Amino acid sequence: MLGFLVIVLLTLLLPTILLFLSSSGWSHSRRRGAPSAPPGNTGWPLIGETVAFLKSHPSPSIGDFLIQRVSRFGNVFTSNLFGQRTVVSTDVQLNRSILLNELRAFGPGWPRSMLRVLGRYTIVAQAGDDHKCSRSIIVNFLSSARLQAVFLQGVDRVSTAILGSWKEKGVVSVRVETKKFAFGVIAKAILGMEPNNTETDKLQREFDIFSQGLMSLPLMFPGTAYWNSLKARSNILNVIRQKRKERINRMRDGRTDVEDDLLTWTLENTNFTEEQTGDLLLGFLLGGHDTTAKVIALAIYYLDGCPKALEQMRVFNESLRLGNIAKYVQRMAVKDFQYKEHVIPQGFSVMAALSAVHMDPSLFEDPKQFNPWRWKGPSGIKKSNNFMAFGGGSRLCPGAELVKLEFAVFFHHLITNYRWELVEPDHPINRPFVDFAGGLHIKIHTLKN
Ligand code: HEM
Repeated sequence: MLGFLVIVLLTLLLPTILLFLSSSGWSHSRRRGAPSAPPGNTGWPLIGETVAFLKSHPSPSIGDFLIQRVSRFGNVFTSNLFGQRTVVSTDVQLNRSILLNELRAFGPGWPRSMLRVLGRYTIVAQAGDDHKCSRSIIVNFLSSARLQAVFLQGVDRVSTAILGSWKEKGVVSVRVETKKFAFGVIAKAILGMEPNNTETDKLQREFDIFSQGLMSLPLMFPGTAYWNSLKARSNILNVIRQKRKERINRMRDGRTDVEDDLLTWTLENTNFTEEQTGDLLLGFLLGGHDTTAKVIALAIYYLDGCPKALEQMRVFNESLRLGNIAKYVQRMAVKDFQYKEHVIPQGFSVMAALSAVHMDPSLFEDPKQFNPWRWKGPSGIKKSNNFMAFGGGSRLCPGAELVKLEFAVFFHHLITNYRWELVEPDHPINRPFVDFAGGLHIKIHTLKN
């Protein structure tokens, strides 16, 4: 009877105890006087503050989650995100240290739920020699010589085809068209798939589902974004597996007409297993299309209000700064890391909020204003030291030069053939990554050449 009463009492009190523990802030035990973990909240048991972190907010803005915690705890604070104790940094110097101290102090640290979707051989989870090996495959595949000799022609072909189709349309959704463009380029580069055919369109639809669940609550039951994402992963891997088998057979038959793509590249230059190849290609397809589509969409949106900037490639930097396509990067502290009066304890996840640097008024005057001219002259170069859109250090985005190429070619064809205006008001919104709520519909006016 007594045992039963104790169980009932504990059951009644447990939520209160958990709530008390979770709202009482961090108490990372350290010697008296020794630097402590940054202050912060743990939020709710298990989910921590993940829901508040994922909440949509207008762009450009760093969002209420960061605004509220920075004003309460300062530039560096502690939270509980995706089931991990996380130190969040909005401080430019600490962010730089996080990017540059890979392995010495920080290792891969993306949430386990996300890695489950990306696969255990994904490059973002790799460290040391494994990371170097995957990275060298990608960097060599995207070398500047190959960008000029191989990619330029493909990018030109896909952008001409997409933009050519606009003539009959009159009104287009920039979100749809830029995704089609970027996916067309990357699917051809990786799996030799032709843009604008049923198979490629189907794969692109799977990727949309796949990316939606990547940053969602990891709820493992049918119908959730996370569940759908895992299903899409398995469908995409089936396509890659099938293509790999066909390619191996063709190469074994001594065929000389095999595609010059990343799949052939991995078969010729590595002894990767089917699973390793799948995760590498999947990550590359993911990193390489939505991001590109978004920077082009953002530039089209911002240029609408600033036609004088049309000829400026500085539009690229400014759209990336305001859009914050990669809002943050995540790492894990492999040992205690001291920063000013705080220590980031070993085993804590670390989030470098790149968006906070780009929106910092002490680094970028009037930061919410679209101003491509801020990148001009010597002060523009100084600002580029605080420009972290492509990350930095040993994980600096290897696709940066390809995006620039795609941006330049797409805009060359766009501005020599069309003028455009927004059909209805639409604004970028972060949910949690930047997107256009209405799909950004524009009316096209064909220029007479
Ligand atoms: C506007 C476009 C893009 C943006 C803003 C962007 C941003 C980033 C950032 C911030 C990182 C660093 C992540 C970290 O430190 O953990 C990164 C890594 C990466 N990006 Fe991009 N990226 C873009 C386009 C691309 C493209 C086109 C590709 C491929 C063709 C690509 C492939 C990758 C890969 C494979 C990594 C992982 C590198 C590593 O871990 O060593 N990205 N990207």
